[in-house]
Amino acid sequence: MRVLVVGSGGREHALAWKLRQSPSVGELLIAPGNGGTGALGENVAVRSDDTAGLVRLAQAREVDLTVVGPEVPLGLGLVDALSAAGRLAFGPTHLAAEIETSKAFSKDFLRRHGIPTAAYRTFTDHGEAVAYVESLTAAPVIKADGLSAGKGVVVCDDLDQARAALDQMMLRREFGEAGSTVIVEERLVGQEVSLLAFSDGTRVATMIPAQDHKPAYDGDQGPNTGGMGSFAPAEIMTEEMRRAVTRDVIEPAIAGMRAEGREYRGVIYAGLILTSDGPKVLEYNCRFGDPETQVLLPLLDGDLAEICRQCTVGHLDPSAVSWHLGACACVAMTSGGYPGAYRTGYPIDGIEEAEHKGCLVFHAGTKREDSRLLTAGGRVLGVTAVGPDLDSAISTAYDGVSSIGFEGAQYRTDIGAKGLAFSASRRTPSEP
Ligand code: AMP
Ligand code: GLY
Repeated sequence: MRVLVVGSGGREHALAWKLRQSPSVGELLIAPGNGGTGALGENVAVRSDDTAGLVRLAQAREVDLTVVGPEVPLGLGLVDALSAAGRLAFGPTHLAAEIETSKAFSKDFLRRHGIPTAAYRTFTDHGEAVAYVESLTAAPVIKADGLSAGKGVVVCDDLDQARAALDQMMLRREFGEAGSTVIVEERLVGQEVSLLAFSDGTRVATMIPAQDHKPAYDGDQGPNTGGMGSFAPAEIMTEEMRRAVTRDVIEPAIAGMRAEGREYRGVIYAGLILTSDGPKVLEYNCRFGDPETQVLLPLLDGDLAEICRQCTVGHLDPSAVSWHLGACACVAMTSGGYPGAYRTGYPIDGIEEAEHKGCLVFHAGTKREDSRLLTAGGRVLGVTAVGPDLDSAISTAYDGVSSIGFEGAQYRTDIGAKGLAFSASRRTPSEP
């Protein structure tokens, strides 16, 4: 098969790395790819939001299967356009992708199908939204509808902050059109877990649970980022809980989308908070997570190209999806200043040394220029390691990080600490 991966981040490097291992994959193209993906296949300079350009590429190179990484091309209808051109493409259609790209659709969908989520109300009128916020007894979360690059969410500590967020979104339109519809949501308390599943529109194969680290600094302090690191499996989600979430959150979503004429094929990602009332959905994403993919795919004991093909044609065999024992951790190394302003173009050293120590180094914001590898984005690398347990995976990943250098490099030093704390709490008997 000739396979095309769409995207340029760490997730897409991990996808390309895993697809490269499939015996059925011959040629591998990545559009546009990054400084790391070029070693696995051919980077082609077509942007991931250039739907027409990607369809032309798939036609010209007779691509058998396209695997779409990010939500933007899915929201733009890349899978619809490729299918219309007779090309297999893995991922939801434009209508199915609305489970992520429209928060208002997604919240109403959750309610229609009785899927556990935070209580919420949707507003298009600023005055009504303010009046509702003033009637609340606890500080809510305010969300702008539509995509705003992860920025359209304000988790409020008090009602003043909630009013300020409504002004920012609905009056000053700081997130653009996304601010014309705003969701005021109950603030949930608990650990966040990501549970992803493959689906062919009917059947599902749930992955192992993973945890992301969104805040920029240690101890979950600082501004939210695209993700500073991840680990899997997240044992805080027990096997029993994983089965319950599959039954109560994943399967009803797939069945609900089919019933609403939005058949969902691809990866569905449930972002959950494990509350004292049980797991509740924060959001669905219509794609693989970044950086969850970097820790899930190294543990996937299966042929990714075949799994994607099966989902795309509507015949997933869930037994094709199984998992290695052990654990995986990924530490994001970012440019100095990220997620605020940062500079790029600095040389990166030490990747080979980290690889010799047993790390998989997934590139995100990197590029090659005259055979040199340079920084080219906020998140630069995802230094990843597999181990027999989480402790050893984390140690190997940080050992790799210590080998790698570029001007201004930043990273969190506590990736996976929550997972270790959970394992330790289980080892400590709670009764004398
Ligand atoms: P989202 O863009 O919806 O994924 O939200 C970004 C982040 O905001 C999430 O990862 C959570 O950490 C936080 N968040 C969103 N909704 C809630 C909520 N209802 N309660 C608590 N935290 C939330
Ligand atoms: N890890 C968060 C996301 O992929 O949206």
